[in-house]
Amino acid sequence: MRLANKTAIITGGGSGIGEACAQAFYREGANVVLFGRRKQRLEETAQKLGSKALTVQGDMTRREDLDRLVQETLNTCNRIDILVNNAGIFKGAPLHEISNDQYDEMMNVNVKAAFQLTQKVLPVMMQQKHGSIIHISSILGIIAVPQVATYNISKGALNQFSRSIAVEYGSYSIRSNSVCPGLIKTDMTSDLMNDEALMQEWSKDYPIGRFGTPEDVANACLFLASDESSFVTGTVLPVDGGFTAH
Ligand SMILES: NC(=O)c1ccc[n+]([C@@H]2O[C@H](COP(=O)([O-])OP(=O)(O)OC[C@H]3O[C@@H](n4cnc5c(N)ncnc54)[C@H](O)[C@@H]3O)[C@@H](O)[C@H]2O)c1
Repeated sequence: MRLANKTAIITGGGSGIGEACAQAFYREGANVVLFGRRKQRLEETAQKLGSKALTVQGDMTRREDLDRLVQETLNTCNRIDILVNNAGIFKGAPLHEISNDQYDEMMNVNVKAAFQLTQKVLPVMMQQKHGSIIHISSILGIIAVPQVATYNISKGALNQFSRSIAVEYGSYSIRSNSVCPGLIKTDMTSDLMNDEALMQEWSKDYPIGRFGTPEDVANACLFLASDESSFVTGTVLPVDGGFTAH
């Protein structure tokens, strides 16, 4: 049991990569707290896990919901060892046409909310002198592609956020790392991935010869969440079948 007696908060935990992280962490003995907007999705995921899964419904962009998430986690589990900032949105438009509202929406969900939740969790981890914070970034935080400038920017910011936490809180044994998935089949990408011709073209950019699964990403997160990675902090880990290697 690599995460025995540990408590993990996973945002966007009711679907895709968040759900796969929840399953992997739970299997390794963690108490798992699933946060997200859709009550039913959260409860369905929690039911698959069992008695050590807590759900908290809320919106990442509402500070009071983040306060409630931290409070309910502490009331039930007494500690927070792992935070996975996974909730995110993906939207595209030509850069010169992006409105202020579209820019704000992307930054508020993908960056500001992760920043604010981390601020609320850090004092708990500082007191424990232990913690692992994982940001689900993207290969688009490392390289850029056209038509998704705000997404590229938001994921680049998360990578720098991981480094900022690493250098400022390492003395409390708090670590922070970014995981950068390549293309993974989830709700977020299902429309895109139904385009067979496009996928055949794109698959040529993946040396390993396939796209990723939520479990591929969860396995990397499991390593970063566990004490096996106790000397690993401030890193940006592509989980991309070699996409960013060329
Ligand atoms: N699927 C991919 O190819 C891929 C690649 C790289 C990075 N990512 C990142 O992985 C993360 C998870 O995405 P996914 O692919 O599992 O898709 P997904 O749509 O299944 O997961 C996104 C989750 O975030 C939640 N969410 C969005 N806005 C929220 C808000 N305001 N408050 C609370 N929850 C909110 C959604 O409800 C959902 O559960 C995202 O940050 C995404 O950017 C995905």
